Amino acid sequence: MLPNVDFTNTDAYNYLSNHYINIAPKHLRDLFAYDPHRFEKFSILFEDILLDYSKNRIDEQTIALLIQLARECQLDQAIAAMFNGEPINQTEGRAVLHTALRNVSGTPVLVDGKDVMPEVNAVLEHMKTFSEAVISGAWKGYNGKEITDVVNIGIGGSDLGPVMVTEALKPYKTRLNVHFVSNVDGTHLVETLRELKADTTLFLIASKTFTTQETMANAHSARDWFLEQGGREADIAKHFVALSTNTKAVEAFGIDTQNMFAFWDWVGGRYSLWSAIGLSIVLSIGFDHFSELLAGAHAADKHFKDTPFEENIPVIMAVLGIWYNNFFDAESHAILPYDQYLHRFAAYFQQGDMESNGKYVDRNGHPVEYQTGPIIWGEPGTNGQHAFYQLIHQGTKMIPCDFIAPAQTHNPIGEHHTLLLSNFFAQTEALMNGKSEDEVEMEFIKAGQDTEQIAFLTPFKVFEGNRPSNSFLLKKITPRSLGTLIAFYEHKIFTQGIIWNIFSFDQWGVELGKQLAGKILPELKNDQEIQTHDSSTNGLINQYKVWR
Ligand code: F6P
Repeated sequence: MLPNVDFTNTDAYNYLSNHYINIAPKHLRDLFAYDPHRFEKFSILFEDILLDYSKNRIDEQTIALLIQLARECQLDQAIAAMFNGEPINQTEGRAVLHTALRNVSGTPVLVDGKDVMPEVNAVLEHMKTFSEAVISGAWKGYNGKEITDVVNIGIGGSDLGPVMVTEALKPYKTRLNVHFVSNVDGTHLVETLRELKADTTLFLIASKTFTTQETMANAHSARDWFLEQGGREADIAKHFVALSTNTKAVEAFGIDTQNMFAFWDWVGGRYSLWSAIGLSIVLSIGFDHFSELLAGAHAADKHFKDTPFEENIPVIMAVLGIWYNNFFDAESHAILPYDQYLHRFAAYFQQGDMESNGKYVDRNGHPVEYQTGPIIWGEPGTNGQHAFYQLIHQGTKMIPCDFIAPAQTHNPIGEHHTLLLSNFFAQTEALMNGKSEDEVEMEFIKAGQDTEQIAFLTPFKVFEGNRPSNSFLLKKITPRSLGTLIAFYEHKIFTQGIIWNIFSFDQWGVELGKQLAGKILPELKNDQEIQTHDSSTNGLINQYKVWR
């Protein structure tokens, strides 16, 4: 069972409220000037990943109090409950054990007294042999040709993780081209299949429940396409496999359960890239690299479980987020990777974080009286710099940012990486320091600008700075370091959910949309004018019926 503590009633929260009054007026520039050892104090090196969190609006007391807050919220007990397989997803009565999927330690993990590791390892073995057969070309399509293209059909957690990781690890690519179809908009499937040939294409139908409307619609249309292109019913086994927890629905779809890769209800959709849902990743980068991804995540799990909170990267990330969200009233959090391969990283954690912690009801079933999960967003640098950084630097909102960059690039051409990294370093420095009126005026004077113009332009060119950021510097984006980084973010989300006293592993908010769409669908199947909804919805539907 999870602890049940209202964090706003803790001593630490009280102290932090007072401490905030003391910290808020201080400028980061001054905090650095006052303490030249901030970097040593507020940075953590884990394997090939350095987290520098010194450019945050904190001092040593802030961290001590935030850690006290985590302790008073019984985070240690919650961590133990998760790793021990207790049913901490209480509204669905399930354990939360994505950590078991990457448990490379050889130790058992018990759910209801049963060790789940033999099953986990059996599925991994199945993924290994299957992927090796497909990659080597031993697995043939119905015309005896090798598979060249793989299409993963899934949505949400059955899409975003695999897309993000296959993109992030493209330098490790096998000979297979892996595509992803998620949107129920037929365009996504049609455009993906346009260049593909049925006899060399393998479809992975990725759905935990195997009932998700979008995925089922795309899966049926993919099967129709396959049959239209010359495949026969009897060939489906060679071209369709299922990644699911729902054996019955997989059978009903017509997929041979020999070609089903199972996982379990204790794997949450948005935490499932480590499970059979990761088969597209395995086909894309090979099983050995997938194993390294798992090992990297396992290393992060051990770090999270065993490291004192003061040195614990996910805990530090989480409490800093709480500091800004609940004391500085920050509404969003930007994730800004300076690595083109990580271009879906922020999108992935939009689901990871917002579907987990976008909740206003606490663990007692009562509406909370404080803010919970932030809006997560971001794009890769330097594209983001030329799009939305203006607002981060000079807007009226505080946006705490995570900057992520590898020291080594997979594509060392010319000066590109040095240019990229100079931007990475410069941005966090500029956000912190800003640019004072004096500095702006000096620049103008040096440039020979006249006095009147200087007076007019100066206010626009001043940057107040004092805008917080974390920097993750990785040696290189490898399967291992990526696995570690993803798991750090997962555990950050978990930690915040514990402190906010909400359930992070259900997603009832998404269900409403599913139910409503199901109700409207039959009304769209005829041309009759409808009057069953509010005037706006009726008006939109009726105009749609006129124009379609
Ligand atoms: O978006 C809601 C959700 O339930 C996610 O949690 C999940 O990842 C996604 O739908 C897909 O569900 P499934 O894998 O069952 O098709």
